[in-house]
Amino acid sequence: MSSLRKRIRRLLPVAGLFGLAALATPVVLGGLGLVTWGETVLALAVLALGGLVCALGAAVWLLRRTVLELSTSVRTQTRQVTELFGQDRLELARSLDGVRTEVRELRDTALPRAVQTLDRSGARRGRHDYEQHVAWTELRAHLDVAPFMPPLRGWAASPDVLRVLVRIIDRDRPELVVECGSGASSVWIGYALRKAGVGRLVAIEHDARYAELSRALVAAHALDDVVEVRHAPLVPVPAEIADGVSANVPWYDTDALSDLKGIGLVFVDGPPQATGPEARHPAVPALLPACVERAVFVLDDADRTDERSLGDRWLAAHPELVRTEEPTEKGAHVFTRNP
Ligand SMILES: C[S@@+](CC[C@H](N)C(=O)[O-])C[C@H]1O[C@@H](n2cnc3c(N)ncnc32)[C@H](O)[C@@H]1O
Repeated sequence: MSSLRKRIRRLLPVAGLFGLAALATPVVLGGLGLVTWGETVLALAVLALGGLVCALGAAVWLLRRTVLELSTSVRTQTRQVTELFGQDRLELARSLDGVRTEVRELRDTALPRAVQTLDRSGARRGRHDYEQHVAWTELRAHLDVAPFMPPLRGWAASPDVLRVLVRIIDRDRPELVVECGSGASSVWIGYALRKAGVGRLVAIEHDARYAELSRALVAAHALDDVVEVRHAPLVPVPAEIADGVSANVPWYDTDALSDLKGIGLVFVDGPPQATGPEARHPAVPALLPACVERAVFVLDDADRTDERSLGDRWLAAHPELVRTEEPTEKGAHVFTRNP
């Protein structure tokens, strides 16, 4: 385009000279009297018209050339843009392929697996809820309790393990029940003993604040004559009941338990797990010597690794003990002396 313009610019003076010469010719001829002035004017008009037509032609030619160049450049740029878009589309398609694969994997594998896990845990929870509801209803009907009872589950024992305890109380009618860890269950056990018409409960509590709360609960149900909540802080385990792990883990102060004799049932639901590894292990070495021959130990939370392992140690140290596993919500292991 610019080279053309340069060429045209170079030709312009020549064309101007030719134009001037052409215009001057009729004037000179008119001046010499070779043509009339009318013919001169006519020749000038024809030349001017011719010049105009030539200029217009040149303009049209230039315009056409410019349009052609423009259309070529537009075509080139369109091709470049299309190629760029094409590459982008290709990359987009490739990354979409990756996303599609992940979505397919999610839809076909991960999602069904998650739904199945959710279904299973929902079904398990539903079954537990139903079983606890049944146990709660049976306990209420069987024990003839107050209209408003301390709630169970969570930090407290679940209704199904209490049902196990109540069955043992009804069957064995123990004179003395000991509970390691007081709380809502102390009240329920109190009602069971009152119904059995025999025996009392000593609920041992390491935490003075919770001992007070449990005492208040017992009093609110007028069970003070059946249930005693006894504060026994956690202290290092005496050498005669310590073995292995227990040597470094505190347990209830045995001085506060020295008067307990003739125990028929022990509910091991404390101390809390946080107080040390296998924190409940000393229950058997400390209390078995104070038990009657047919005594029963019920260990709650037996689904936990700690409780299973301390139960194993009880069995190893006391071959006369046998373990029965109750399929309760938190797992309950029942230990009795082999007859
Ligand atoms: C595993 S819980 C079980 C207590 C009891 N055997 C029961 O089932 O209700 C053991 C400890 O919980 C604590 N505890 C007692 N009452 C509580 C309450 N209202 N809220 C939270 N913890 C409590 C006591 O320190 C108790 O020794």
